[in-house]
Amino acid sequence: MTSSVSIGVFDSGVGGLSVLRHIRQALPDEHLIYVADSGHVPYGDKPASYIEERSVALARFLIGQGAHAIVIACNTATAAAAATLRSRFSIPIVAMEPAVKPAVAATRSGVVGVLATIGTLESARFAALLERYAGEVEIVTQGCPGLVEQIERGDLSGPETRALVERYTAPLLARGADTLILGCTHYPFLAPLIREVAGADIALVDTGAAVAQQLRRRMLAELPDRTPGTTASTDFWTSGEVQQASQIFSILWDEIATVQRLPEVFL
Ligand code: DGL
Repeated sequence: MTSSVSIGVFDSGVGGLSVLRHIRQALPDEHLIYVADSGHVPYGDKPASYIEERSVALARFLIGQGAHAIVIACNTATAAAAATLRSRFSIPIVAMEPAVKPAVAATRSGVVGVLATIGTLESARFAALLERYAGEVEIVTQGCPGLVEQIERGDLSGPETRALVERYTAPLLARGADTLILGCTHYPFLAPLIREVAGADIALVDTGAAVAQQLRRRMLAELPDRTPGTTASTDFWTSGEVQQASQIFSILWDEIATVQRLPEVFL
């Protein structure tokens, strides 16, 4: 019988918390370990090889901490490193990609906007996703440099963040998009601001809930004998500054979060 298991989750920073909240809901008894790679954020404008290296290091750390499954709570890291992680590690690796399929099903105007990092938008994986699911729907993409940094500062609604959201949504709305894909796990934290800017009728879609359900299915199928944890606790780690991380986690996460710094070898 497998004893209590842990699930490791990582992102370039705090964005993956938007996925973690769905995981906590879908798997309320599990022990979760979250790593924010804030010392290396943003991933969006870095070469794929850099992100791949970071992802392997973080996966090693999580497995060392007892993770029996890993969630890549980052679209950019999925595009750069999901295949490598799956080839190197034998535990379930759940990854995520922009919600093209549900957005195509939801649009009434026939135009879907995608907000994502440059790394995601330029990836072969994203091109394949469009090829597979876009069909007759027009997909308009928009890279969003600077937005992740605002969220990492905990600025979800200030003038600078609003100006960036206005700048990045304007071309998509002008083109007639009625549905916006939040193709980066940081962006769901801006949903209220995006609705303010784009209008309450805009449909916003992301894959956080779907990823949590996929993880749950994999846990049930591949680790059926596990016993749920007794504390349902979550451990938080960062490769960045602990004090800064603690402040932002307290804004974005409901429970009080104690954040620890990753050991030197993983920085
Ligand atoms: N949160 C990440 C994503 O989903 C990456 C953001 C970044 O570091 O640029 O793409």
